[in-house]
Amino acid sequence: MAPADSSWWQTAVVYQVYIRSFADGNGDGVGDVAGLRSRLPYLAQLGVDAIWINPWYPSPMADAGYDVADYREIEPAYGTLAEAQALIAEAHELGIRVLLDIVPNHTSDQHAWFQAAAADEPGARERYHFRSGRGPDGSLPPNNWQSVFGGPAWTQLADGQWYLHLFAPGQPDLNWDNPEVRTEFEDILAFWFDRGVDGFRIDVAHGMVKGDGLPDTADPDDAAQSLVQSREGHPAWDQDGVHEIYRGWRTVAQRYEPERIFIAEAWVPSNERLARYLRSDELHTAFQFDFLRAPWRAEVLRTVVDDAISAAATVGAPPTWVLSNHDVTRTVTRFSRSQPGHLIETDWERGRWADEDPDHVIGRRRARAAALVQLALPGTAYVYQGEELALEEVEDLPDEVRQDPTWVQSGFTDVGRDGCRIPLPWRATDIPYGFTADSAAVTWLPQPGHWAEHSVEAQDGDAESTLNLYRRALGLRAQLWRDAGDLKWLSTPSGVVAFERGAAQCWVNTGDSEVPLPESASVMLASAPGVLSALPPDTAVWLRSR
Ligand code: GLC
Repeated sequence: MAPADSSWWQTAVVYQVYIRSFADGNGDGVGDVAGLRSRLPYLAQLGVDAIWINPWYPSPMADAGYDVADYREIEPAYGTLAEAQALIAEAHELGIRVLLDIVPNHTSDQHAWFQAAAADEPGARERYHFRSGRGPDGSLPPNNWQSVFGGPAWTQLADGQWYLHLFAPGQPDLNWDNPEVRTEFEDILAFWFDRGVDGFRIDVAHGMVKGDGLPDTADPDDAAQSLVQSREGHPAWDQDGVHEIYRGWRTVAQRYEPERIFIAEAWVPSNERLARYLRSDELHTAFQFDFLRAPWRAEVLRTVVDDAISAAATVGAPPTWVLSNHDVTRTVTRFSRSQPGHLIETDWERGRWADEDPDHVIGRRRARAAALVQLALPGTAYVYQGEELALEEVEDLPDEVRQDPTWVQSGFTDVGRDGCRIPLPWRATDIPYGFTADSAAVTWLPQPGHWAEHSVEAQDGDAESTLNLYRRALGLRAQLWRDAGDLKWLSTPSGVVAFERGAAQCWVNTGDSEVPLPESASVMLASAPGVLSALPPDTAVWLRSR
């Protein structure tokens, strides 16, 4: 790892570690830092450039760690600060950068600041959004905003005051108009940068600043508010004032050599709005989520790719490509049902699809092909743990084990995100498939009975496995694509898209029939076995000019 290389992130493959479900080192059924450390060689062999670790701070887990009680410590169930520092050093030894997840929109209700606010200590409520209620006795919420997880975005304390939470009641929103909040977060960033962290993914980066006076939203459908469907004009989201915060953060990152980096998680209505977060004195990159909302249809894929590239180019940022993460339906499952002609509204589709049986064989073929498209595109690619194993969404969890606050807050109508957060299968044995050091341990979410065949151990020795496809793809990416420059579309039959970058081409067939491949190029890698001169349906291929 060249320490002076400050542009590493522009072409990186970043692996998302959902720490609760990655690997358990202490045998309590919950993933942890020790488990992650023991699997770093696996990640090095996979060939990723960086890991992004979901929140690992002390948390009462009202939202799986996105409710942070102390930003400068490690959750005891995950380990200690000393172990975290050892992990950072070991990852760096292996050439893997480490990105953390910062949660600045809200704290936990167990954070010292909120505890002080609940006790009404002088000035403590100024750090959050406290208001009196509406109605003659103040028994109605201060405005009509709905929580992303369902129900009102306000909770009333015993003394009658209400506080704002755009997510769970255990996640009170911070008041970013308060200078103390700004100083505190710049200090937290420096705390981790000083410990060698290479950058941060910013949680709900579009949420921190609220419209003046917290006005009602005019949107009568606000009850259907969801993270992936952020609407234009809602006073809780994407307010212009948020950009000032990031200008301050950038100066913190610039104090380090090489400069530390930021990735925004911002669900905004258009790529033009997203590009505003990437101006040269703000954040480095942002997730472009249309790629993970694109159905398996060549023409939509092409539009989404074009839009993402051109919007990023307006501000000189590299585009980013995400097929899934810990908030959305796993790729295999998303592609295993009928595909709409428009972008998929992921949360909503979860319910709509419940009636249609998934075909995981097709879903896996498509997910493997999509991975080759993702990894051939210019810019940064994010791989969510388990994608390299082609794991499917677990859709039949018993209700009593569900953990996602969405389930309760939606009044038991939205099953939420647990199905994409199941602990990984490492060994081809029985449950828990080597996930935990103690084979008798009960994992925090149950694993399905048929995952031995998808385990790392089972896939390791199988040349055709998805794991080995990813390994080969990540190795070849450096040769074929990493420095290959701009993308040029090739003319193709309907249902197929193909692009060229440098001497390499990527073709993908989302249609129903096989298409011939150009004779002037040879196959370097294919998402299905036996592809030579023709490309079957639901398959992608990397070619190099002869
Ligand atoms: C982000 C996280 C999600 C979390 C939410 C609230 O969207 O990715 O998991 O629930 O923020 O912090």
